[in-house]
Amino acid sequence: MKISVAIDGPAAAGKSTVAKKVAEIKGYTYIDTGAMYRAFTWYCLEKGVDCQDEAACVALIPEVNIKLRPGHVVLCNDIDVTRQIREPRVSGNVSYIASYKDIRLFLVDQQRTMAGKHSVIMDGRDIGTYVLPNADVKIYQIASVETRAIRRYDENISKGIPCTLEEIEEDVRKRDYIDSHRAFAPLKPAPDSVLLDTSFMSVDEVVNAVIEIIDKKIQEKGGN
Ligand code: DC
Repeated sequence: MKISVAIDGPAAAGKSTVAKKVAEIKGYTYIDTGAMYRAFTWYCLEKGVDCQDEAACVALIPEVNIKLRPGHVVLCNDIDVTRQIREPRVSGNVSYIASYKDIRLFLVDQQRTMAGKHSVIMDGRDIGTYVLPNADVKIYQIASVETRAIRRYDENISKGIPCTLEEIEEDVRKRDYIDSHRAFAPLKPAPDSVLLDTSFMSVDEVVNAVIEIIDKKIQEKGGN
């Protein structure tokens, strides 16, 4: 049975950590849509294009070829940018890029193609509301800003990406604001999503909760 799971929510809510684990356990393909917006942002920065200049960024669309590879590897025009896309210069600009409708349409098209082929778990901001409105399971994962900033700070430090907690908290607040106030496909819960507040939950607890929701849905659909 082909299943699609959408996990949306604000920045650094732990969506990708949970989605990766659930994908592994259930044998689904994990699609990190944020990585695609990040890779596009990386390319703009490499080209020296101002990320707040919509026309200049949109003009780069024909030059950009983003691929997600096994092992959570992200390629942009065949360059491995897996690490670079997590750097603060990318995080600080990605919400501008993600607010441009033409760039969203370009990337959403690829996301839908990927979801059409396999059982997927896809995380982002607009998966349940726009990319996969008919997803079998929709989760809206949240946590307090403070919790999210600490989680992202720890993650960056463990990956050797230099940052301060203050810088991360400011970035998270700024991205949440831009992501939820943009005109096209903004961050918001789908009406049929399950709200999961993970502020006081461990990763395993969240993973188990998501799997329980998926299994219930599969049973309803008559699968096993
Ligand atoms: O999930 P993330 O932090 O890697 O996402 C990076 C940015 O990309 C995020 O601030 C908003 C944008 N994004 C989006 O607008 N829509 C998505 N489906 C995924 C990410």
